[in-house]
Amino acid sequence: MTDLPPSEHLHDRIRTDIAHNARVWNYWLGGKDNYPVDREVGDRVTAFHPSIGAVARADRAFLGRAVTHLAREAGVRQFLDIGTGLPTADNTHEVAQRVAPDSRIVYVDNDPIVLTHARALLTGTAEGATEYVDADAHAPERILEAAARTLDFSRPVAVLMLGILNFVLDTDEARSIVRTLMDAVPSGSHLVLTHPTYDADLGGEANVAAMEFWNAHATPPITARSRAEFASFLDGLDLLDPGIVSCARWRAPEAAEVAQFGAVGRKP
Ligand SMILES: C[S@@+](CC[C@H](N)C(=O)[O-])C[C@H]1O[C@@H](n2cnc3c(N)ncnc32)[C@H](O)[C@@H]1O
Repeated sequence: MTDLPPSEHLHDRIRTDIAHNARVWNYWLGGKDNYPVDREVGDRVTAFHPSIGAVARADRAFLGRAVTHLAREAGVRQFLDIGTGLPTADNTHEVAQRVAPDSRIVYVDNDPIVLTHARALLTGTAEGATEYVDADAHAPERILEAAARTLDFSRPVAVLMLGILNFVLDTDEARSIVRTLMDAVPSGSHLVLTHPTYDADLGGEANVAAMEFWNAHATPPITARSRAEFASFLDGLDLLDPGIVSCARWRAPEAAEVAQFGAVGRKP
């Protein structure tokens, strides 16, 4: 495992007095890797946005469909999953290696609790590879440097950023992060994105009060984005069908919509 600090230092980084996104997300997904403060904030946010649990489940289901498509139909064998979250059912390496056991996956997150559980993400096949990098999305060059120990950047890579650009509050910076990552990968690579929105046509009004509460009581601070802002992250890429939709509806047209965009773009 890359960059694993001594456990005493790691435990110094874990704060149990304030809710952390990775742990609250785990709570909404029905996981056990969270503290009372996470459950309390998770419940308060749910009161403002009753379908937030459905958003988290739809996001994970989208990950499953997108990664399956990329491994099976697009022949992608390398995945860079930034903002991984705590291990749960059907992590990226499990989905990809079920289709193609030789798939290579690099996970990246900056939350110490994800790092403490990272071993559960490193259980891949002998033919493939899984690696975990403790790094911040605000430093994409450092992510690329660490990922290059496991991934071959002369061959296509799927860059996954699910529910993480919403923690990069400045839209220009978020665009620049995406551009740095996608500039480093060759033609045939893909960008897989999900992102919450305030857009009313997806029921996003509920995010206004929910995110205001989150930003007063939890970390890291979050923002929502419009369809046009979300689309700008995919500029220069060919959007796979069905384009930009609620992540719940991406190749699942009958599903109930949630206020979270999902899309997959291919680098021409
Ligand atoms: C909403 S969760 C999404 C988890 C997973 N991608 C999914 O879709 O189920 C967002 C994750 O991004 C991580 N994260 C937030 N800001 C980050 C940053 N600046 N750098 C790296 N990871 C970050 C959090 O720790 C959390 O695990």
